[in-house]
Amino acid sequence: MFISFEGIDGCGKGTQISYLEKYLDSIGKTYIVVREPGGTEIGETIREVLLHSKFAITGKAELLLFLASRAQLVHEKILPALKEGKVVIADRFIDSSVAYQGAGRKIGVEEVKKLNSFATENIKPDITFYIDIPVSAFYQRKPFADRIECEGTAFLETVRQAYLKMAHEEPNRIIVIDGSKNTEDVWKSILSHLSQVRDLI
Ligand code: TYD
Repeated sequence: MFISFEGIDGCGKGTQISYLEKYLDSIGKTYIVVREPGGTEIGETIREVLLHSKFAITGKAELLLFLASRAQLVHEKILPALKEGKVVIADRFIDSSVAYQGAGRKIGVEEVKKLNSFATENIKPDITFYIDIPVSAFYQRKPFADRIECEGTAFLETVRQAYLKMAHEEPNRIIVIDGSKNTEDVWKSILSHLSQVRDLI
């Protein structure tokens, strides 16, 4: 079972992932948690370049670095864990590139989807929780931004709309969760969706 979490920065993915970890512990299920960009030694090095480099980077170069990190993660961590029957929890995956680079950086949503398939050997999460918050909430929750988060309100609004569009197009995989509620209510919505696919866990 492969579960990913998506959303604009500050949507509360981290808290929900820790609730999911506790839940999986309680039912005795083994799992791994991976984060993007990063999750492998090479990926963490790429993460530094992507999020904290002072050098200018083009949209295409940025996309290819995210994809390089993802390709390594799939090969080194995700596929082996799935083969061993573990649950894989990903803090961001393919949909982040579609939303941030495809839509936000205007590289093209379809182009990025194709490149994602190439990088991931076509694997997709079984279920993706997109935690939706208004862009204004981001600034209240996350005062210290990295390079991508500094793009501003219009950029994040484009990213948010791209996520909502993807969720509309793939309703069986991408579940929209209202992230403006308190963290426990958000978790209840996630758990209720998970219980519908519990046999998969
Ligand atoms: P991170 O500090 O991990 O933020 P968060 O806690 O919000 O996940 O930073 C990841 C940043 O990289 C975030 O601004 C989203 C961006 N990103 C992309 O632009 N494209 C991608 O493919 C991925 C995985 C992340």
